[in-house]
Amino acid sequence: MTHSEITKEYASIMLTGDRPTGPLHLGHYVGSLKNRVKMQDMYDTCFYMVADIQALTDNAENPQKVRDNLLEVVLDNLAVGVDPKKTHIFVQSMVPEIAELMIFFMNLVTINQLLHNPTIKTEAKQKGFEESIPLGFLAYPVSQAADILFCKATIVPVGEDQLPVLEQANDIAKKFNILYGEVFPKITGVVGDVARLVGTDGNAKASKSLGNAIYLSDSPAEIERKVMSMYTDPLRIKKTDKGHVEGNVVFSYLDIFARPEMHGEIASIKQRYSAGGDDAPGDVEIKKLLIQELRILLDPIRARREAFAKDMPAVEQILKDGIAVARQHAQKTLAEVRKVMHIDYF
Ligand code: TRP
Repeated sequence: MTHSEITKEYASIMLTGDRPTGPLHLGHYVGSLKNRVKMQDMYDTCFYMVADIQALTDNAENPQKVRDNLLEVVLDNLAVGVDPKKTHIFVQSMVPEIAELMIFFMNLVTINQLLHNPTIKTEAKQKGFEESIPLGFLAYPVSQAADILFCKATIVPVGEDQLPVLEQANDIAKKFNILYGEVFPKITGVVGDVARLVGTDGNAKASKSLGNAIYLSDSPAEIERKVMSMYTDPLRIKKTDKGHVEGNVVFSYLDIFARPEMHGEIASIKQRYSAGGDDAPGDVEIKKLLIQELRILLDPIRARREAFAKDMPAVEQILKDGIAVARQHAQKTLAEVRKVMHIDYF
């Protein structure tokens, strides 16, 4: 669906969220965070959810991990520019109406649909759930449908891997509307410019579990260490050998993260790198350029994070305010849901 096809009534609500299971990294930044910051100026109402219930679906034995990461993930978002004046920031479990909505949605999905969902299949494998999937985990797309639809959000910035989950949510909404009455809008997922960021080790995806990601909160020393150990071109033994730019992580990152005014210089470095000879740049030189560009991006993010972290009661107040607004929307939608389902008894 294009923007112009979204009906006016539903035109203006954006919602997104993260699982609080660890610090956010550059892959999250280019895949989704950058978009949510830009888009908070384009929609009347914006929500950002910390999906603690969803995080528990594969961390049931470790609730402390979820708790420890809750405020960290909020700080990461505030640091990149999610602005509490524009975006209501709230915690999933503090809006119980979402759980109630999920219960109604569960009747509209089959176990087989969930078992065949590509996102669930991939994640179940990653988490070692192939033999025996917890019901809560299997049902998280249903829970996520409720996360999005409690406020009738239409625009959802997400990572590419989440698109099948949004498709499932749309199927649920459609079925609900047909069975009971037109309550829910169609959801459109919006994926960032870089759907998948390579890992610092050359692996197809930067991820926490693979230990190949640069975090938004990394110190300058950590950034330097990670860039210096980045995967380059294993076939280039001597600086004068012809090098490969394709598949070279340092160049991939420069393409994505360097400031536009550096693009000319980077093109010339690439050219000399591929040509080889005495003029060819050394790996260290290119890596130093990447460290410089990443610091230009990440230093202000880290500074903003530290500024917010100095006043945690204020951050908690941001959440309390966000929860109150989310609950208003949720209660209004749930009243409508009960009405069309004919379970609005008294
Ligand atoms: N499943 C999302 C992820 O893993 C997090 C999430 C939970 C979410 N609820 C959401 C994203 C609602 C968008 C909308 O990244």
